[in-house]
Amino acid sequence: MVQDLEMMKKVYSNFKSNVDSARKLLGRPMTYTEKILYSHLKPANGGQGTELKNFGRGKDYVDFFPDRVAMQDATAQMALLQFMSAGIPKVAVPSTVHCDHLIQAEINAETDLATANRDNAEVYEFLANVSRKYGIGFWKPGAGIIHQVVLENYAFPGGMMIGTDSHTPNAGGLGMVAIGVGGADAVDVMAGIPWELKFPKLIGVKLTGSLKGWASAKDIILKLAGILTVKGGTGAIVEYFGSGTASLSCTGKGTICNMGAEIGATTSLFPYDSRMADYLKKTDRAEIAKLADEVADYLKADVDVEKNPEKFYDQVVTIDLDTLEPHINGPFTPDLATPISEFAKAVKQNGWPEKLSAALIGSCTNSSYEDIDRVTTVAKQALSQGAKAKCEFLITPGSEQVRATIERDGQLGVLSQMGANVMANACGPCIGQWKRHGALEKNSIITSFNRNFTARNDGNPKTHAFVASPETVIGFALTGDLTVDFTKEPITNDKGEKIMLQPPKGLDLPDKGFVKDEHGYVEPEKDGSKVSVSINPQSDRLQALNPFIAPNVNSDFSGLRLLIKAKGKCTTDHISMAGSWLKFRGHLDNISNNLLIGAINSFNGEANKVKNQVSGTHGAVPATARDYKAKGIGWIVVGEENYGEGSSREHAALEPRHLGGKAIIVKSFARIHETNLKKQGMLPLTFATPADYDKIREDDTFALNPKDLAPGKQLTLTVKHADGKSDEIMLNHTFNEQQIGWFKAGSALNLIASSSKK
Ligand code: F3S
Repeated sequence: MVQDLEMMKKVYSNFKSNVDSARKLLGRPMTYTEKILYSHLKPANGGQGTELKNFGRGKDYVDFFPDRVAMQDATAQMALLQFMSAGIPKVAVPSTVHCDHLIQAEINAETDLATANRDNAEVYEFLANVSRKYGIGFWKPGAGIIHQVVLENYAFPGGMMIGTDSHTPNAGGLGMVAIGVGGADAVDVMAGIPWELKFPKLIGVKLTGSLKGWASAKDIILKLAGILTVKGGTGAIVEYFGSGTASLSCTGKGTICNMGAEIGATTSLFPYDSRMADYLKKTDRAEIAKLADEVADYLKADVDVEKNPEKFYDQVVTIDLDTLEPHINGPFTPDLATPISEFAKAVKQNGWPEKLSAALIGSCTNSSYEDIDRVTTVAKQALSQGAKAKCEFLITPGSEQVRATIERDGQLGVLSQMGANVMANACGPCIGQWKRHGALEKNSIITSFNRNFTARNDGNPKTHAFVASPETVIGFALTGDLTVDFTKEPITNDKGEKIMLQPPKGLDLPDKGFVKDEHGYVEPEKDGSKVSVSINPQSDRLQALNPFIAPNVNSDFSGLRLLIKAKGKCTTDHISMAGSWLKFRGHLDNISNNLLIGAINSFNGEANKVKNQVSGTHGAVPATARDYKAKGIGWIVVGEENYGEGSSREHAALEPRHLGGKAIIVKSFARIHETNLKKQGMLPLTFATPADYDKIREDDTFALNPKDLAPGKQLTLTVKHADGKSDEIMLNHTFNEQQIGWFKAGSALNLIASSSKK
């Protein structure tokens, strides 16, 4: 077991007494989320914490002490470069690094893993050495995807963790508050200083009944995304409750929580139940199940909350599992939800490509034993009736533990016979690490992943990516045609005969237990002081960080120019693209060459083409930013709603800071990105009147007054237009006192580094 049992005993004994104290103070029943949050106001090891009081949801910033940290290799590089510059000898809480994002899917698992080990050797060695030195558990390439490995080894009911990946909420399937953050937040927790979060609002989702036919756990979140949209969960934690929760497996719950990131939720979680206990036991953590059983009444909402949910949650949504249909979401956004009974019509009406070019199962979202076992029952039916996949069919297992187990139990063999190509246990096509051959034209793919923004999977903006359950994906892989509802209509086998598929059935856990991954994990050194970590100054992959210079609030914020006024959706993928850029995640200057290259310039409708106001010529966004920086001209970015939605990647905040940006001014922000900008010393600001976005012209000059930055006080943007006229635009912000300290110091890290030297 890779978890410290003595530590866990301490966590559970604190949990009960902390909840009792909080309930007494609040004088009312508590939701499960509140129990976890209120029980993490102090470090698990003791020490001073945050004063207990009745926190205002959506209002009060609260200092929390999470139990653990997880980082994936793409974000860990920058997180650990920052941790190294904080001057702290060892991480304060259990932390792990997982090598999953840098493996490109092309040929097959073995070949692709060997290629990744060769191409990323420098980065893997850096991550392994830093981990050994600073007391961090290291999961090698091929061991699995961060969220699956966390669920299999570290997540526990009643716990709280942060992870440098937006799908960290996957651990909510084991009843944990698990939140996706940027690397600078991870540095806070690893340094033992409290981690700050605005106390979230609560959305209660009541599940009634039980799933029938082809419907699966994934369909619950696909349906909810359609109801709440990509912004609906912003600033909120989604807590599931009701009789339907117990009918879902632990990994099914994990899938739902994972994809809660797609509605912008801070995280999602389920109450503790016997399905979670079963999973803990099967993954070698019977002792933790026993500890959780002892406080089981505390690991769910109080009874009166369930009776009167409207009184205790800010919003309540009910989903009836008995009548839930399989859903297909997309293309291009995960909240465009269509039930399968209406999908063929939607495909035809919208002119989406009917023929499927690829079907993909796996990723951190949907690669559990249950997922694979259920799709295998469909594959077996198809094979016995002479049908195979009618398009490219890829499987990416979530972990070596799952892969080895489904190999032993025969599912992989069946799926291979049906035409599946099994890729490495890694993110692969889910993050655009898919060296796809062909299919450059308009085409449709269907995946069991979580995210389907334009060009996300294969880099091709013409690819229409649909998100569905693994069961739905395999159904469509067998039809090869998005207009055939295989749940009701016959499909055609390889001889041209009509056959019917029956709904899937499967085990959620292997009867014979999981096959252990004996080689994937490297324990850190007990005393890491002798381990040396070096960065080659010539490297194009890694670059030591120089601290950002503190701003001069009197002179740095006038004469600003507009770098880009972004139109429409501007996700972290638009701000700092993934795909081939992933390799520069440890080199700030090199990766800054992708700054905002995906954003659409509202003045010409084009990506990566903006007017340089000094030279008067059009150029690429990063080159223009570099030119302004070289000339000592500060700049701003203007954008629309939910700016920075998507992943937790802090490069989207580091890059504008590195290239001389001063402020990002938008109609609204996605939570993680807004915090990331603050941590790096940028000013994330929102238009008090969103329509003021329209007043911004390409050749304006701007001035801001951050000298007056104070909690709750608006800032003024003075806009000088080229025609001599001017506008004063009022801007809101969400800085509190502590965050203003980050801004004044130049970055949050500068503050940590200065206090660690004292
Ligand atoms: Fe990886 Fe995709 Fe999950 S990128 S961590 S598999 S969302």
